[in-house]
Amino acid sequence: MRAPYMLSPQASQIRQMFSSIARRYDLLNHLLSLNVDRSWRRQAASLLADPLEDRQALCLDLCCGTGDLLVEMAKQGSARIVGSDFSHPMLKLGREKLAKRRLQQRAQLLEADALRLPFPTNTFDGLAVAFGLRNLESWSEGLGEMWRVLKPEGRIVVLEFSRPTLPLFNRLFQLYFLWILPRIGQGISGHGTAYRYLHDSVQDFPDQARLCRLMKEAGFAEVSFRNLSGGIAALHWGVKDGKSTV
Ligand SMILES: C[S@@+](CC[C@H](N)C(=O)[O-])C[C@H]1O[C@@H](n2cnc3c(N)ncnc32)[C@H](O)[C@@H]1O
Repeated sequence: MRAPYMLSPQASQIRQMFSSIARRYDLLNHLLSLNVDRSWRRQAASLLADPLEDRQALCLDLCCGTGDLLVEMAKQGSARIVGSDFSHPMLKLGREKLAKRRLQQRAQLLEADALRLPFPTNTFDGLAVAFGLRNLESWSEGLGEMWRVLKPEGRIVVLEFSRPTLPLFNRLFQLYFLWILPRIGQGISGHGTAYRYLHDSVQDFPDQARLCRLMKEAGFAEVSFRNLSGGIAALHWGVKDGKSTV
């Protein structure tokens, strides 16, 4: 089924890129991060413990890709979970993963553009987005849309690459990220530019403090963050103010 929405040329290009690396996406994630990405997603899900433990609650894994975070969210609670992404091949792999783990009853996957989500305002009790926000054409519009679909007092968790805090470690990591990772990525995925794009998009993405500001500007309260692996990645979180109206 094709997606019933129009995308800008830039967003279509991003979708095409993720669709063409989908088959090797999980393997490269685990290999390039030496499996540390699993622990990052586990920590992201644990920040949604309250809604996830509530069997009446509904949570969203936005830009879910092949569903690794969604599976982690399902493992950590009994809430119902929706995963959404605009890449059909990513979602296909995600559906296979859910079926293998017999999670189809609790989790559903849906093809949708993160900037125009097909959910009513105030739908979700919790929302997580892992390595997705960075890829959106407008980070503030993306955060605004997340704010809209969360219920008042609903919690958001953002897992993204960030800035290592120690200068020497940062320099070493940049060497790995710029010169080694794209070569391994190209060799295994067969895609010439996707892992170069990863480096460039992380350079452009706001650092820890700026992302906090963007989240506050989008209307989130109690915004805070925690570095992961020395700041290679960071977890940001916040809540939709209970008094908010739309
Ligand atoms: C780096 S992957 C992250 C996947 C997954 N969250 C994870 O933790 O591995 C980014 C995902 O965001 C999706 N994506 C990027 N822009 C999107 C948009 N505008 N709407 C929906 N999905 C989008 C891509 O298709 C891709 O699956």
